[in-house]
Amino acid sequence: MNDLPSAPATERNRYPILEQLKVLLPENAQVLEIGSGLGQHAVFFSDAMPGIEWQPSERKPELPSLEMRVARQGGANLKRPVQLDVQADPWPSGPFDVVFTANTAHIMSWLGVKRLFEGAAAVLPAGGMLIIYGPFTLDGQFTSSGNLAFDRDLRSQDPEMGLRDVTDIDKLGKNHHMVRISRIDMPANNMLLVLRRY
Ligand SMILES: C[S@@+](CC[C@H](N)C(=O)[O-])C[C@H]1O[C@@H](n2cnc3c(N)ncnc32)[C@H](O)[C@@H]1O
Repeated sequence: MNDLPSAPATERNRYPILEQLKVLLPENAQVLEIGSGLGQHAVFFSDAMPGIEWQPSERKPELPSLEMRVARQGGANLKRPVQLDVQADPWPSGPFDVVFTANTAHIMSWLGVKRLFEGAAAVLPAGGMLIIYGPFTLDGQFTSSGNLAFDRDLRSQDPEMGLRDVTDIDKLGKNHHMVRISRIDMPANNMLLVLRRY
């Protein structure tokens, strides 16, 4: 019986994201995931790519449900989750080949996104990748009415939340020795942004 909580969107998007990760990730990649949530991606991706080692992480309040899923469903290449609020906690020492995060850039504050880049730049060697999945705007334009409504809803809950613009992500990358090498359009008006550390 599976009585673990799960996010329906994550159940859906894991397949198209996996397809891209299989192409992008080095075979034996050490991956650090930021904001692993309920651990659905961590379990699914590590199971589908047995050569990689996946380190999930979460903020302290969300950690117990992540730990529960990893303990119950994780394989040998899925590491025990670590506590990591990008605005408050020290990062695991790494180095990692890849920092991956899904649906977090519009949830954390812009300062949080800056800290995410700072932290990723510190744990990634030259050639390492920061891979960010989620909804973004392009030159200030929403790519769908659904994303516009989602952004409005987020900002009404908390003005610090909201969709980020790809141009601002690129600028942040430049400030942290990263260049975006790819923007992959994903189902349901999401994107996968791939930045390489140099
Ligand atoms: C919408 S959920 C996405 C969870 C998971 N990545 C997924 O795709 O199912 C957003 C996540 O971002 C995490 N988050 C928000 N602010 C954060 C921060 N400052 N540091 C680390 N994680 C953060 C939350 O704890 C939450 O789990």
